Amino acid sequence: MGFAVHCSWLAALLCLHFFGGQVCCNCTEENMEIAGGHYTLTKQLQKGSLLIYHCSEGYYPYPVMTRLCQHDDSWRMAPRRFTPQRCRVVECPDPNVMEYGEVFPPQEKYFVKNETTYECYSGYTMRGSARRVCLPNGKWSGSTPICSRESGHNCADPGIPAGASKAGNIFGIDETVKYSCNSNLFLVGSSERVCLENGQWSGKEPACYYKHTYDTSLEVSQAFGSSIRESLTTLESLNDTQAGKTIRISKNGTLNIYIAVDISESIEEKDVTKAKDAIITLIKKIASFTVDPNYEIVFFSSDLYEVVNILDFFGGKKVELNAIIKKVEDFKVGQKNTGTDLNLLFKKFEQQMAVIKIRVGKEQFKEHRHVFILFTDGAYNMGGSPEPTLVRIKNMVYMNHTVEQEAQSREEYLDIYIFAIGNEIFDDDLQPLVTGLGGKHYFRMKDIEDLQETFDAIIDEEEVKGLCGLHKEYEMFGNAQEAARKKYPWWAFITIQNDEGKSRSCIGSLVNPYFVLTAAHCFKFGDEQKHVKVEIDDGQGRVKQVKDFILHPKYNINGKVKEGVLEFYDYDVALIQLEEYVQISSSVRPICIPCTQETSDALQLVGVSTCKQQEELLLKNDLERVSFLTKRGSSVDEKDAHAKLGGSRVDCIKHALEVPNITATDPKVAVTDNFLCTGGLTPFRDHVACKGDSGGAVFKNYEHRTIQVALVSWGTKDLCGSGGGIVESDQTSRDFHINLFRVVDFLKTILGNDEQDEYSTLEFLKD
Ligand SMILES: *[C@@H]1O[C@H](CO)[C@@H](O)[C@H](O)[C@H]1NC(C)=O
Ligand SMILES: *[C@@H]1O[C@H](CO)[C@@H](O)[C@H](O)[C@H]1NC(C)=O
Ligand SMILES: *[C@@H]1O[C@H](CO)[C@@H](O)[C@H](O)[C@H]1NC(C)=O
Ligand SMILES: *[C@@H]1O[C@H](CO)[C@@H](O)[C@H](O)[C@H]1NC(C)=O
Ligand SMILES: *[C@@H]1O[C@H](CO)[C@@H](O)[C@H](O)[C@H]1NC(C)=O
Ligand SMILES: *[C@@H]1O[C@H](CO)[C@@H](O)[C@H](O)[C@H]1NC(C)=O
Repeated sequence: MGFAVHCSWLAALLCLHFFGGQVCCNCTEENMEIAGGHYTLTKQLQKGSLLIYHCSEGYYPYPVMTRLCQHDDSWRMAPRRFTPQRCRVVECPDPNVMEYGEVFPPQEKYFVKNETTYECYSGYTMRGSARRVCLPNGKWSGSTPICSRESGHNCADPGIPAGASKAGNIFGIDETVKYSCNSNLFLVGSSERVCLENGQWSGKEPACYYKHTYDTSLEVSQAFGSSIRESLTTLESLNDTQAGKTIRISKNGTLNIYIAVDISESIEEKDVTKAKDAIITLIKKIASFTVDPNYEIVFFSSDLYEVVNILDFFGGKKVELNAIIKKVEDFKVGQKNTGTDLNLLFKKFEQQMAVIKIRVGKEQFKEHRHVFILFTDGAYNMGGSPEPTLVRIKNMVYMNHTVEQEAQSREEYLDIYIFAIGNEIFDDDLQPLVTGLGGKHYFRMKDIEDLQETFDAIIDEEEVKGLCGLHKEYEMFGNAQEAARKKYPWWAFITIQNDEGKSRSCIGSLVNPYFVLTAAHCFKFGDEQKHVKVEIDDGQGRVKQVKDFILHPKYNINGKVKEGVLEFYDYDVALIQLEEYVQISSSVRPICIPCTQETSDALQLVGVSTCKQQEELLLKNDLERVSFLTKRGSSVDEKDAHAKLGGSRVDCIKHALEVPNITATDPKVAVTDNFLCTGGLTPFRDHVACKGDSGGAVFKNYEHRTIQVALVSWGTKDLCGSGGGIVESDQTSRDFHINLFRVVDFLKTILGNDEQDEYSTLEFLKD
């Protein structure tokens, strides 16, 4: 690139004078304009500033996308006189590569909005799109049209993507086809595909990209979504009985995820912020998938800024998701470095992996899967190519298998995804780094504005919809009620209105698609099914008809009148069976209840687990923070309290004796071991339950799953009045909640009853 001298000798002299001979003057804007578009500068006309050309949709800057103000105050890629900078109309790759058919209209070049139709020669049938339109991102709509005829081959003709040529015409098992892209296009995806025994081609159809071709956020979320899901869900399979679908969740393989964001000069500040937001969304999404990976998170330019160190995950102490998120949020880009050292980054990952291998041992390391997710433009200008480092990393993961066959069997243990961002992408340098089986691993993003939403969409709710307790902790858009439904998808309102017109309301929790759990005291003698209404909006009507309600057989409100307890609430649980099952979705989904296999999975208990293990995890401290809901209009609010367990319990339950209706002298007569106790001011000011809160779930969140540990039953004081809502406790007010671990037998006889075929059952633990 030529050196343009922008300083006149006079200006140069002045510059020398004012700036101590250190610098010359700035780059100039002379000859920088672009016909049909405009440009922006990242740092005005100073050194290191990036000039970025912009064109409207369907056009791209030509001959260059960007220019950099160099240290000698000249532009890298100086403007050329004979090819002035302009906005060119987007072109799509040549579709006339189709075999055994014809393309209309035949043209030398095809531009955005141009339409094509395809016809097969007689005797051939078509698969794929018979009509395609050239899109603004440089791709054809629809899918590759393929004309083929029954040939008796094992695999179907894989066709030829627009702009490509194919070598290989035999489609028997183990035969390969190879693709290359014509002239100024480059290939993204599998350049070689093998016909497998199952009649499918390995890999994914490649595509030919121009420098101006990019992936839309929808394409990225679909392709990356299916790829990352494969990474997240392998090894052992776990059948999801509720949705009747098979969900594969890795239960004991370890997943290590290494994320790196390029913050060098050529990446704009706003893109770094977007990438940070996207990372946070991705991490949250992955957590909702009930895997608990280890993370390494690094920002890099010519230096590395390690934000989350993966070795912390091997220190024996659990690293909280929120702590990871906070570290990413808090990271600030300081002084920018001009260089990019991609090799340094790969070396860092290699080093971390080597340490992990030593820590966990060789055998255990075999079960570790590694996923790299990089955001970069690939302009490495320091440290050289990272390829040799990558070879060593592959050796480590593939275990030096020289026999190709064996290396292949371990390929699923290493995935490298690259999100090529920035205004000028160095595809040739980045593409060789992409690693992994199956789906697409290389994404060219025009702009990463939507990356956060893209990641939000990657995990298909449909696939995980039956998982108990799964919820969205954050909801940025939409109305408040919708957000509440996604946060507490299990909540139901219960209204009981008897023939005299008196009505009572309670809260319940969906525990499987047919059953709602609530308090027995919501029902009074003489109530019938038709008096009971359950409200839970699953899009199929808000109010659900009730088929039956079943109270705990030991519930007897008058059971201890003689012992000085006028109203005795032990075993205050009931199950309501609905006439029809509710539609499960991200806003209507069961909560996890104690002693089920699903809850063990949610708690990430490995192998054969017990009820006791669950209880120890959920109710282990003398003070356990729990939450419950209260009605607010047609939505709910969350109340927080602390269950006083172990040594704190005695002091908590003694306040039961302050209730006028209790004349017993031992609080345990009224408050049996089946209750959890909350309330009071110390050490925390708890919220108290109001009348309408009865029957609602007392729950704890464990990562992205909610587990119901108890159920709101009764309290010592009515501090709420008629209004209800969020009310704080006073010194002596106490609430008592039925501990679900104490009523598992009741839940199991109904929800685990295998001797009926009306509803699918929950799998309860043996002990
Ligand atoms: C260079 O650009 C900066 C920022 O636009 C400006 O403050 C400075 O005066 C310029 N220097 C010269 C010598 O033009
Ligand atoms: C294809 O697109 C170019 C550029 O927009 C346009 O000039 C041309 O007329 C189109 N051709 C057809 C057949 O529509
Ligand atoms: C999952 O379901 C399939 C088909 O119903 C069955 O063949 C398979 O054994 C089940 N796997 C497990 C782990 O239960
Ligand atoms: C794998 O290969 C590398 C170099 O190719 C070598 O240094 C290393 O010792 C080998 N490791 C094993 C486990 O064989
Ligand atoms: C998973 O763990 C079980 C025992 O907890 C073990 O038998 C099994 O081999 C492990 N599977 C993998 C893939 O590590
Ligand atoms: C005491 O019992 C009576 C009769 O069951 C009831 O109406 C009243 O609300 C109870 N009082 C308190 C403070 O619980």
